[in-house]
Amino acid sequence: MTQPRRIIIFDTTLRDGEQSPGASMNLHEKIEIAQALQELGVDVVEAGFPIASPGDFAAVREIAATIHGTTVCGLARCNPDDINRAWEALKIAKHPRIHVFLATSAIHREFKLRMTCDEIIQRAVEGVTLAASYCDDIEFSPEDAVRTEHDFLCRVVEAAIQAGATTVNIPDTVGYATPTQMGATIAMLRNRVPNIDQAVISVHCHNDLGLAVANSLTAVENGAGQVECTINGIGERAGNCSLEEIVMAMRTRNDVYHCETGINTRRLVPTSRLVSGITGMQVQRNKAIVGRNAFAHEAGIHQDGILKERTTYEIMHPEDVGFSKTDLVLGKHSGRAALADRAKTLGYRLSGEQLQEVFEEFKRLADKKKEIYDGDIVALVEQQLHGVVQEHWKLVSFEITSRTGDVPHVRMTLRNGGQQVTEEVTAGDGPVDAAFRAVEKITGLGLVCKDYQVRSATIGRDAQGEASLEIEHAGQSYRGLGVSTDTIEATVKALLNAVNRIAASAGQAG
Ligand code: KIV
Ligand code: ZN
Repeated sequence: MTQPRRIIIFDTTLRDGEQSPGASMNLHEKIEIAQALQELGVDVVEAGFPIASPGDFAAVREIAATIHGTTVCGLARCNPDDINRAWEALKIAKHPRIHVFLATSAIHREFKLRMTCDEIIQRAVEGVTLAASYCDDIEFSPEDAVRTEHDFLCRVVEAAIQAGATTVNIPDTVGYATPTQMGATIAMLRNRVPNIDQAVISVHCHNDLGLAVANSLTAVENGAGQVECTINGIGERAGNCSLEEIVMAMRTRNDVYHCETGINTRRLVPTSRLVSGITGMQVQRNKAIVGRNAFAHEAGIHQDGILKERTTYEIMHPEDVGFSKTDLVLGKHSGRAALADRAKTLGYRLSGEQLQEVFEEFKRLADKKKEIYDGDIVALVEQQLHGVVQEHWKLVSFEITSRTGDVPHVRMTLRNGGQQVTEEVTAGDGPVDAAFRAVEKITGLGLVCKDYQVRSATIGRDAQGEASLEIEHAGQSYRGLGVSTDTIEATVKALLNAVNRIAASAGQAG
């Protein structure tokens, strides 16, 4: 029997994923995700685009300094300033990789770069040569490769490998490819580029037509040795190939793909939760592999079949992707150890201090709610891990009256350090608008609501509401997260969480 081929998993959640509108992350959050990716077993973490901003540079440098188990990659356009900056951020890494890209399609050559084919080849060779003078792991991407003429694509790829590229990545930048076309492009490169065996062929598919995973799979079938993907499929526009989907497709249909990866699949759900908690981009319920309903069997015939023989309707084990086996119910009398154990089973590693905070919230919740489900614990832990910023503004109390046909009235008291401020507002379209107005009045900040969602953490009328929102202040976006059995209180908490992020980013005390 032939050995399965080892496919390199290149995760770009922190670079292409961060390009999703509203998904920007701070330094601490990026490091947390990079650590989770390392634990997940990805081979390469693309940590950012160092020249893009001082924040991106700092994130790549910090990740390069702290993540030793995987290759750390930084993106650079094909020019000396970008490449030098990328190396500056990466040079401390144990396994650094510079990823250089340059557009090659006729559309990009003509309208964006205004360069001829020969000039593109020369620029690519110069960029790769410079990068290769710094380290021996160099990736080259002909941007918009899928829409590039085959003859020219072969020339660029050959020249980049000759100049020192060890990986050549074939991006479907605009998500235009079809599975057959993508497979044929990889096969064509393998047939026509004379030095192709000296580099790993990679694929980077966007999901504009919902084909990113399918396109990546046909690339693998035709010889690609690396797949670029993101957790939950986040990324520019419709996103990138979803890591969890491609990994589980290759694993579940090993009979077709004959491949393996280094991914610890049991970390898929916890990593997905971490990324959605940090980015505020919630995973749709029916999302393959990590969605809440991915293993929920509703139809009676299916439930009956599952009870008789699981494989009648289940092609993967939920535990294999990190869902816990039972939704064990905790309650008022459950102790800290039971909570810690449950949090661990759900994939969270809490410090003693974090556990204490979650435990206190858990006890408060247990006073209001008899049965505490996994979803409740996830909500409390997420709030602790991603909702916590220094609390400049803290909720003391609020009272909201909202009646059919009446303008709502709110009385709110917030504390800032030792000072307590109370304001009353009679205005707004409803209780949420009134709460926004009261917070604006007390804090003196103008807040534009860009996104607001409340969802129930578990089943039942007494379920906790998880409020998540995105607000804009002075041209910047800030996320907020709040949890409570009272959805208006969850909203106010989420709002204050966002306000505290504004205060933290301004470095102000009030
Ligand atoms: O989509 C794309 O072409 C990219 C490149 C930088 C690889 O993200
Ligand atoms: Zn991309």
